[in-house]
Amino acid sequence: MNDLKEEIKSRLSVEDVVGQYIELKRAGRNLKGRSPWGVDKTPSFMVSPEKGIWHDFSANKGGDIFTFIMEVEGINFKEALEKLATRAGVDISKYQGGDPAVTKKKARAREALNLASKYYQACLVRNQSVCEYVFYKRNLNRKTVAEFKIGYAPASGKALIEVLQKRGYNLNELEVAGLLNRFKTDLFRDRMMVPFIDTSGNVIGFTARILKQGEPKYLNTPETLLFNKSRFVFGLYQAKETIRREGYVVIVEGNMDVISSHQAGVKSAVATSGTAMTEQHLKILSNLTSDIRLAYDGDAAGIKATERAIMLAGDLGIDLTVISDYHGAKDPDELIQKDPKLWQDAVSHNVPAVDWLLQKYEENLDLSSAPGKRKYSDVALKLLDYVKDEVERASYEAKVAKILNIDVATLREKGERLNKKLEQTPKRFLKKPKTQAKNDKIEKLENSLLALKVYGGITKTKIPLDVPDDDTKLAELELVFNSEHELLDSEDYEREAKELLKLYQQEIAKQKIIELNTKLSNLEEDSEEYLNTLNEINELQKTQK
Ligand code: CTP
Ligand code: MN
Repeated sequence: MNDLKEEIKSRLSVEDVVGQYIELKRAGRNLKGRSPWGVDKTPSFMVSPEKGIWHDFSANKGGDIFTFIMEVEGINFKEALEKLATRAGVDISKYQGGDPAVTKKKARAREALNLASKYYQACLVRNQSVCEYVFYKRNLNRKTVAEFKIGYAPASGKALIEVLQKRGYNLNELEVAGLLNRFKTDLFRDRMMVPFIDTSGNVIGFTARILKQGEPKYLNTPETLLFNKSRFVFGLYQAKETIRREGYVVIVEGNMDVISSHQAGVKSAVATSGTAMTEQHLKILSNLTSDIRLAYDGDAAGIKATERAIMLAGDLGIDLTVISDYHGAKDPDELIQKDPKLWQDAVSHNVPAVDWLLQKYEENLDLSSAPGKRKYSDVALKLLDYVKDEVERASYEAKVAKILNIDVATLREKGERLNKKLEQTPKRFLKKPKTQAKNDKIEKLENSLLALKVYGGITKTKIPLDVPDDDTKLAELELVFNSEHELLDSEDYEREAKELLKLYQQEIAKQKIIELNTKLSNLEEDSEEYLNTLNEINELQKTQK
């Protein structure tokens, strides 16, 4: 694995890899650019060609070419390795990558799933009533059925197992592929089969629709070695070329909406398992285009999903819009059944997601009453917190103020109060603190301190952090040191270290207070542990001055 990494590194320079995503300008021995995460006001992204590493001072991330690709593409290490290997022209199979047992298991599962898909496709054409469902009831044509590899799983309960066993697959392997139920028989029976196809064209799972009424309507492959719901984008394999070419993507709720949409000529449609969109989904898509159009239902679930997407989109530099006019149809598929032209038109009538949400809030609240206005301003202000651009936000503030018939200053005042309140909420009422291991501030301080410890020759101030022994991390720290600490003599470094250490300890204590408060909220009031915890919190509070 290390050999492979080194081979790739020797063929690709960090400035070329990074340079594909952001514009880099020379700055002394290093190169500088804007953060690809869009959070800097001035260039804060540094690349050191000599050391082969990068560091983003605004997002506080850094590493080598592999970590860069992982971060920017939202993919895991293995995928980044594969991607860069291809780019470098390195044959990955020559290097035994990963756990060979797992690699083997995955390969077997992939083969089994591809065979299963072929079998299901063959079963479809043999079954008259299922053909009726697919071709007449769902109105799909042969080309679409072939393109999406739609099939049918027979009802018997052992049909697929028998076929695959004859081909040499055992039950264990079929289980790994996610094809069995808990009784070790066929998971999918008497359903229309729609495969999940990954971006390389491999079948990695299925979603299976019941043909008549019944529950569950859709049965899906569980999480397996190959299928990960929070990363998989349905239809991306078929849509990616169009998305690149036309410059936008349409996210619909249902997989069948994707299929109908492609048939109707809107080939940039994809779906992310209902409305459960994740940051990984967004990252994968934002990599292809920044014009992301949501075509969710206008119901409560659709509103929640749109709000969530706005929060996720926050720093990704995405133009999130909403397609909402379905002419009374319940979803894109239903609209297409009425008239494909209507859907073709709908996708270019998209409105900014924030405007759409404000409109929804307006419709759902009674703005003639004072409490209604309060509620509207609550949700609107929370939403506007995610609008990063000052000009854009100011324009929304004006809009909201106008709707409420108040002046912008009053609205801003409330916004400030809400934000302050959030910071100052009596700690014991904080029910859901961030429980991630470390917050950004701590991590940033740790980097600065370590940089000083390793490169500043600190002797008097004891920095209680272990020096990493990983070369990439060390090189990154040197970059941090060179850009952050431009002081001259060691006295300055000592003073700097002391100050940073104090801040660091305060942050650690703050984190601890948050954790203890969570603990507190689960303890019985006035129990001994409760009082002890309270004492501990009070002690820690003293460090916060
Ligand atoms: N879904 C699911 N399991 C269910 C119901 C829904 O996984 N039991 C997911 C499917 O991906 C489905 C999406 O949620 O495509 C939207 O659900 P729904 O609106 O109920 O389905 P439609 O896409 O409209 O399905 P159809 O047109 O076949 O009725
Ligand atoms: Mn539908």
